[in-house]
Parts: sequence; structure tokens; C-alpha cells
Amino acid sequence: MTTDSATGAAPSQARQKPLIRDEKKRDSKTIARSYHLPPTTNLSTHDITGPTLHVQKGNGIYIYDDEGKEYIEGMSGLWNVSLGFSEKRLVEAATKQLNELPYYHLFSAKAHDPAIDLAEGLIKIAPWASKVFFANSGSEANDTVVKMVWYYNNALDRPKKKKIFSRIKAYHGIAVGSGSLTGIPKNHADFDLPIKNIYHTSCPHYYRYGREGESEEEYATRLAEEFEKMVVEQGGAEECAAFIAEPVLGAGGVIVPPKTYYAKMQAIVKKYDMLWIDDEVICGFGRLGDMWGAETLDIKPDILVSSKAISNAYLPLSCVMVADNVYQVLVTQSKKHGVFAHGFTGSGHPVACAVALEVLKIYEERAIVQHVKDVVPHFWEKLKTFEGHPLVGEVRGIGLIAALECVKDKATKEAFDAGLGVGAKVAEFAQTHGLIVRNLGDSIALCPPLIITEAQIDELLSRLSKALDDTLEWVKAKR
Ligand SMILES: Cc1ncc(COP(=O)(O)O)c(C=O)c1O
Repeated sequence: MTTDSATGAAPSQARQKPLIRDEKKRDSKTIARSYHLPPTTNLSTHDITGPTLHVQKGNGIYIYDDEGKEYIEGMSGLWNVSLGFSEKRLVEAATKQLNELPYYHLFSAKAHDPAIDLAEGLIKIAPWASKVFFANSGSEANDTVVKMVWYYNNALDRPKKKKIFSRIKAYHGIAVGSGSLTGIPKNHADFDLPIKNIYHTSCPHYYRYGREGESEEEYATRLAEEFEKMVVEQGGAEECAAFIAEPVLGAGGVIVPPKTYYAKMQAIVKKYDMLWIDDEVICGFGRLGDMWGAETLDIKPDILVSSKAISNAYLPLSCVMVADNVYQVLVTQSKKHGVFAHGFTGSGHPVACAVALEVLKIYEERAIVQHVKDVVPHFWEKLKTFEGHPLVGEVRGIGLIAALECVKDKATKEAFDAGLGVGAKVAEFAQTHGLIVRNLGDSIALCPPLIITEAQIDELLSRLSKALDDTLEWVKAKR
């Protein structure tokens, strides 16, 4: 009989001993604290407490921690797992592709089926675009966009036309170009961002920044006028190249711009011959109730960026879709240089593309966008009842993305002292009640998997309600 080399026991006996697993469990916090530098985390807290949640597995809209506790993933991970955590068809598509062609690049006009078929599939659902460029993350895609805008204007012999406008509270990623487009101070502080030629215009949040007695439309006019003034101050058509916007600002607080805003902003972008860059990394793939946020909010992009739900987040993938007017200019410039000298080793990775192709098939076969349209009225009917909660100042959002903003005084909209961490407390209590939400300051974001049912929406909101009640008690005790 063979024996286990470490314990000298028979293999079956060794297997029965939960030695390795138990040790791992006992040590996982220490291991994490000792070796891992986690993204977007307070490192000093992590050094002391370790991870806040150790996730072991997922099923549908649920995840489970290392103790087996179930949570509804109210954020679809990072706004991305739209089809849930156990989509076997995606696993099979990845496995098949790994067996067939696990990797090949696309430099120097190489091609493989997953990338070209996905490019075709994406243009079918975004017919205004003519070409697709692949990258691996939203940040890479938006860095690509910054470079494309500059390259495009150099090609047109407009060397001064390089300024790109984003918005305060926008989130477009974290690399050098995309991180500069992001308009959240913490993402800039001490990273020496933003780089030059990037500007941020006002955040279009009516509840927070609309004036007393000002209608949404008037507020939108004011924002558009402010933007135009900024464009003129920065050299107008000669120097201003592009405007980038998420249809709904996601990580900045789930902010739906006021009525008429996009029509007014698009008029200015057109007037100064700038490009409209539509960052649909969160809003695309049905999140707002149509395939693209641009459809829901009537935006006409020149360039569209997608990621996250494109591969259901099972593998990293992003893309930049360009309209033909932009593409033809890139062609001219690449002819001049002999190459469009931009690309990533992982651009159009065959396994990620194979997964994304299967995602597209699932969206069509299961009519995912229609499902969103079907459950959205129920979601909003229930969610609006939270307006009556003593802690909630605003319930905002559209489709299956929302935020509840916690305030100290509902009548005056006075915010809590940021140091109190009310939003973080809601997220903490929610976790205790088996719900994952994300606090963006004191706004609590919800972005559930698109496959969520009405019964699951009820369960999600019931857990959220408990978390808000607990937080209210906690706030009262603090006072
Ligand atoms: C709108 C938007 N753009 C870009 C990004 C950056 O994507 P990534 O984190 O994949 O770099 C994000 C990430 O959340 C996003 O929400």
C-alpha cells in the first residue's frame, strides 16, 4: 500500500485529515496581510485586520465566504458580473478555446476566429461604429482613447487640438491617461495626476448642485454654459479635442445627469468640432435597460469604450469602438508611419474573446436586455420606498443601477461628517445581513446581476433595509 509521504498515512486517511484546509483557513488573514498588496484598499488597515471578506465560491447572484455564509452580490462584483457567478457555458467556451488555441497575438495583422468573430458581433450591436480595438481593462481602453484622440488630431494636422474634457466625479480608470480622465481627487492625490491636456467640468448632480428653485432643465443649461465657457477659455475649436462621459456616472456616485443635459452638451461638442467619447464600461450591455446607455440617454458617440459585462468579467477584456470618420483618419496616419503603433500583448486574447462571444449569444438567446426591462419597474417601485427612510436623502439611478444617498438632514440635504463613515457602516451592516453593496462616500450603490428575479430583488432590498435600520440606530447612539 502506498502512503502519504508527509504523514506516512494511507492516502485516504490523509485526505480525511482536514490539515491543509484548516491551516489555510486559520492562516488566510495572516497570509493576505503578509504578502498581498490589495487594489483600492486602505493599506494601513489591511496590515492590521487583513481582508474584510474571503470569497470562496459563487452561484447565480450569490457568493459564499470561506465559512459558507451566503451573500447576494448587490454590486455584481465591480459592476461587471451581469450574468451571475455560475454561467457554465462561459466556462465551457473558455475551456474549448484553451484546448484549441490558448493564446495568439494580433500584431502585424495576425488574426484568429474569436477576435474577428467578436469584432463582428460587437459591430452588429453597435452599428454606428465601424471598427473594434481590443484591450484588457477599462483603463487600458481609455488610455488607448487618449492616445487615439491625439494621434487623430496630429493626422489632421491640428497639433494644438489636444485638450480632453471629462467631469468632476467621473471614473474612467486608473492608469496614467485614464486616471487623469477620472475626476475623483483621491485617485489623483500624490500620484501626480492629472497629466496635462486633461480638464474636468462640473459634475451633473441635480440633487447636490442644483440651486434653490432651479429646474432640472435650467440646471442642465447652466452646466452646458459653464462647459462652453471652459472650452472657449481653453482655446475653443483650435485646442479642444474631445469630451468623455459615462452615460451614468458610476463610481462617482451613480449620478444620472439632469433632463436635457446630453442634448445641450452634445451641441457644444459639435460646435467646437470635438469628439464624443462614450465610456460604457458600466452602462453598456443592458445595465440601463437598453444594450447601450447611449440608446437610453440619446447620445451619439464617435468612440465607445466597453468592458466588464462584455465578458461577464470571467476574463479581462475591453474594447474601443470607433466610428468610420475616426477610423479613416487613423488609417491615414498609420500609412504615414507604416504602422498604427499601439497594441497590447493581450489585445484580443482568444480565450477572453471566446467567452465574450458566448456572452453575446446568451444575451440574445435569453433576451437579457428584455429581462432587465421586465424587472426594472418592480426594482424601482420597491427602491423608491426607501425615500421614506430617515437616513435616505435621495434614491437615484436608472435601469438596474442605483444609489441611496444617506444624509444627516433630509430637509436641508446636509451631509454627515465624512469622518463618521456612515456609508461604510451601511455596507458593513449589509454584509452582516448577507448583502454586498458598495459605499461611495455616504451613497450606497446597487448594481445587481442583470439576471436577478423579482423575488431576489425583494430579498436584496429586505437585507438592505435591515442594514439601514441598524445604521440609523448606530448613528443615534453616536449622537
Ligand atoms: C466607467 C468606467 N470606465 C473605466 C473603468 C476602468 O476599468 P478597469 O478597472 O477595468 O481598468 C471603470 C471601472 O470601474 C469604469 O467604471
